[in-house]
Amino acid sequence: MKKIIIVGASSGIGLRAAEDFAAAGWQVGMAARRLEPMQALQTQYPDTIKVSAIDVTAPDAARKFGDLIEEMDGMDTLLYCSGTGFSDPQLDDAKLTDTLAVNVVGFARIVSEAYKYFRATANRTQGQIAVVTSVAATKGLGIAAAYSASKRFQVQFINSLEQLAYTQQVNVAFTDIRPGFIRTPLLDPDKDYPMIMTLDEASRLVERAVVKRRRVAVIDSRWRIVNALWNLIPQRLWRHVDITFK
Ligand SMILES: NC(=O)c1ccc[n+]([C@@H]2O[C@H](COP(=O)([O-])OP(=O)(O)OC[C@H]3O[C@@H](n4cnc5c(N)ncnc54)[C@H](OP(=O)(O)O)[C@@H]3O)[C@@H](O)[C@H]2O)c1
Repeated sequence: MKKIIIVGASSGIGLRAAEDFAAAGWQVGMAARRLEPMQALQTQYPDTIKVSAIDVTAPDAARKFGDLIEEMDGMDTLLYCSGTGFSDPQLDDAKLTDTLAVNVVGFARIVSEAYKYFRATANRTQGQIAVVTSVAATKGLGIAAAYSASKRFQVQFINSLEQLAYTQQVNVAFTDIRPGFIRTPLLDPDKDYPMIMTLDEASRLVERAVVKRRRVAVIDSRWRIVNALWNLIPQRLWRHVDITFK
């Protein structure tokens, strides 16, 4: 039975992935700060789901994550979904700090721990580190500078680890999942977002990217096109683009 640990499994993409992987017969480790939503799912799969309260911004996060791996008697795939982000044109200090703490510090901490686990164990079967980044990683978005930069950090971090894995001969695959907009609690329920996907639509694509071990998966095909096009826009023109949501 394959084993996946989902960090950021109490809500949105992560919770849905936990539900779907458990239904598909995987052993699932769920981690986030809020235990209640994870325990609610665990009651449906008491033999195959383990849960752990982990705040990725806390210094004990790596140890607790290691404990969860041990409790599951190993891990084939880490799916890192924890994240926060704000529309923040005023550059509010609390929002900026929160975003960087979760998406940069917490992310690097957990992903590094997973890498070290695979370095120590995965030469028999290939491990996988999958991260839900964002299309926001590819261009600097003025209304969400910290979020956008934090997602760029995530992409570059796993690119770097991939190179390190070759050097250190660590048998691990990396998957970078970049959604556009998905209707989850992360988004402002009162705003309209372009080309927004339902969780039903997006979760299928997220999970396929994990199972097929895609290296980069932009979700969905409309966003793949937009993403490819806006990557062609030089910064001297990009700075004039007004991205605001009503
Ligand atoms: N929704 C979108 O449109 C969209 C688009 C592109 C990328 N993404 C990315 O997809 C990922 C999942 O987002 P979502 O849309 O599913 O949002 P969500 O429903 O708000 O879920 C966010 C998850 O992150 C966890 N989290 C936040 N702070 C944490 C902390 N300090 N420690 C541990 N876990 C923490 C939350 O759990 P607790 O609060 O219980 O800790 C929750 O499980 C994020 O990285 C987001 O940037 C989302």
